[in-house]
Amino acid sequence: MDKKVMYSAVQPSGNLTIGNYLGAIRNWVAMQDRFTCYYAIADMHAITVRQEPADLRRRTLELAALYLACGLDPQKCALYVQSNVPAHAELAWVLNTFTYVGEMERMTQFKDKSARHPENINMGLMDYPVLMAADILLYQADYVPVGVDQRQHVEITRDIAIRFNHRCGETFRVPEAYILKEGAKIMSLQDPLHKMSKSDENPNASVYLSDDRDTILRKFRRAVTDSFNRVAVSEEQPGVTNLLNIYAAFRGCTAAEAACAFEGRGYGDLKSAVGETVADALAPVQAEQRRLLADKAYLSGVLKEGAERAAYTARKTLSKVYRKIGFYRGE
Ligand code: TRP
Repeated sequence: MDKKVMYSAVQPSGNLTIGNYLGAIRNWVAMQDRFTCYYAIADMHAITVRQEPADLRRRTLELAALYLACGLDPQKCALYVQSNVPAHAELAWVLNTFTYVGEMERMTQFKDKSARHPENINMGLMDYPVLMAADILLYQADYVPVGVDQRQHVEITRDIAIRFNHRCGETFRVPEAYILKEGAKIMSLQDPLHKMSKSDENPNASVYLSDDRDTILRKFRRAVTDSFNRVAVSEEQPGVTNLLNIYAAFRGCTAAEAACAFEGRGYGDLKSAVGETVADALAPVQAEQRRLLADKAYLSGVLKEGAERAAYTARKTLSKVYRKIGFYRGE
């Protein structure tokens, strides 16, 4: 039986947080045996917001090294850089003609980002979901593991696929979002009602995968809690609940079990235990990432092979699309 296809990507912009790790990359590793997986580094999406060229290039490699350090196996999945596979841009152009301006103007992320970058509301920012649809549809993906913030983009991908299939005949598999478990949602350490984000301006709000041990311990020590003085999972204690969720996610237990373990102990104890747990868990990943970044030849080999594998599949879909819409392909 053919394996189902899984597609996802992360942008090489900003520093990844433990939320990205727990919510995305760590789960991808668990899925690489059961599915045919394509995991991209979405540099073409990243440039919809201004990037320093040297930083973009460096972060692209850092993200590739991180994918590998987290346990993604280049034998099992295609790991590649989006811009290395030209079919993404090519299919996006065609899909643009199957997407309405009004639909794009209504996308939540477009509205948010336009508000945050009023000086640079470029066409790419608005077209972002169409490029994402091209990513996903090129590989005939069944599932797209994403966080809730990307659900709307997967929905519009479905709409575009259905619309194209309806007009031009069955061409694309209609993908489904694969939304990860609720418990995995990691909140800001400074404002636990909001998601931990790699673009947060307050560096104490997020724990980055690149943070060293001291920084991690300090950020957890400063985490916002409350004045209940009771370690419990509860809606009125979002800060403490978040710490318990983080602890549980790294320890492989439930937040309720973690709360039991800390019963009767103070917030200081909880914060240092969570900090130690996170620092211990990240240390080997960081060491492996550093080792890989020192081996540029290996990294570039992995990305080249990943891009070749991706391009092979992508080309097949793109040819089909070009034929269906009537592009001349030679005799
Ligand atoms: N937009 C996604 C994010 O910022 C990244 C992304 C690009 C993606 N292309 C994708 C995710 C295709 C899933 C599928 O998180």
